This record gives sequence, C-alpha cells and structure tokens, in this order.
Amino acid sequence: MFITFEGIEGSGKTTQLNRLAATLRERGKNVVLTKEPGGTPLADRIRAILLDSGSVIDPVAELFLFAASRRQNVMEVIRPAIARGDVVLCDRFTDSTLAYQGFGRLLTLDRLRALNDWATDSTRPDVVLIFDLAEELGLTRARSRNEEAAADEGRFELEDLRFHRRVREGYLALAAAEPRRYAVISAEGTADEVYARMMDVLESRLR
Ligand code: TYD
Repeated sequence: MFITFEGIEGSGKTTQLNRLAATLRERGKNVVLTKEPGGTPLADRIRAILLDSGSVIDPVAELFLFAASRRQNVMEVIRPAIARGDVVLCDRFTDSTLAYQGFGRLLTLDRLRALNDWATDSTRPDVVLIFDLAEELGLTRARSRNEEAAADEGRFELEDLRFHRRVREGYLALAAAEPRRYAVISAEGTADEVYARMMDVLESRLR
C-alpha cells in the first residue's frame, strides 16, 4: 500500500502523516515514512538546493532536480518497501510536480506526466490524500513555522498568493479528474478534526 500526502504549504499534512504512521504501527503494520524532495542522502542534498531561498533556479532545471530526487527515492526507498509489502507513506510525490510545476509554474502537464512516469517507472500511489485549505491561511501557518524553526527552506513560501492559489486549484482539478484514487480532506480546524476526516476516508479505502 502506497499513500501520498499532498497540499499547499501549511496544510498540516506532515502532522497527519505522522499520526497515521503511529496508528498503523499500533495495528501491527510495517510502515515506511519518506518525503520529497529528499528521502535518501543524495536526495536530501538536492532538497537543500531546491528549498534554499538564495537559489536562483530556472523552472525546467527545478523540475529536473525534483525528478532526480524522486528517482533516487523511488529506487532506494519506495519500490523496495512496496515489494516487501510494507505500507509506504510519502510526504509529497508526483502530484506536487503537477500542482507546483504544472499549475504553479505553468509547465505543460503532459510533459510533467511523462517525466513523472520515467522517474518512477510508473509507480503510482494507491491513495492520494490532498489536504485542502485557503492559501492565505496555509501561507500564514507556513511562514510562522519557518520563523520558529529558523529554517531557510522558504523558497516556495516567497511565491505570491496567486501562485499558491493556482497550486491549490490544480490539486482540486487533479482530484476531480480521478475521484477513486484521490481524496480531498479539509485541513481547516484542529489537528484532531483533520485526523478524524482522514481516517473516515481511509477506513473505507483500506478495506
Ligand atoms: P517542504 O518543506 O517539504 O514543504 P511542506 O512542508 O509544505 O511539504 O518543501 C517542499 C516544497 O517543494 C514545497 O513548497 C513544494 C515544492 N515541491 C515542488 O514544487 N515540486 C515537487 O515535485 C515537490 C515534491 C515539491
């Protein structure tokens, strides 16, 4: 089982991913957690380049860096875990490329899909969870989190609200086109409320 967690910045998906991992482990499942960009030592180095707000990156070069990170993560972590029968939870995956590079940066979706398939040998998530909230709220949450962590991972948070609105709408369009594999979960309210919504969605799909 391969489940990916998607959404704009500040949607709280990472919190929910960790909570789901704890629940599944209590139920006796082997759970592998990973994230993109990153997930392996090499991919973590690519991540640092991508998220550094001092990097000036051409949109296509950016796309290839995400694809390189993804390839490494798929080959080293994701495919071996799926082959073992583990549950794999990945914080962002191919849909981030469609939403951010496609709807956000306006690169052609067909090309992005082809590159995603190449990078992953067509590995597709069984379930894509999209944590949805207003972009204003997401950005406010994400910026205050970055200040607290004093982390310089803010290159995407510097993009304006219109960019994040396109990304959000992109996610919703992807979900609408394939409702059996995607689930949109409202990320407003408390973490407990969002968790309950997520488990509602998953209990029926995991059966
Ligand atoms: P990250 O710190 O993981 O953000 P978050 O905590 O919101 O998940 O940063 C990842 C950033 O990279 C995020 O802004 C989305 C962006 N991204 C893409 O643009 N394309 C991609 O394919 C991926 C995986 C991420």
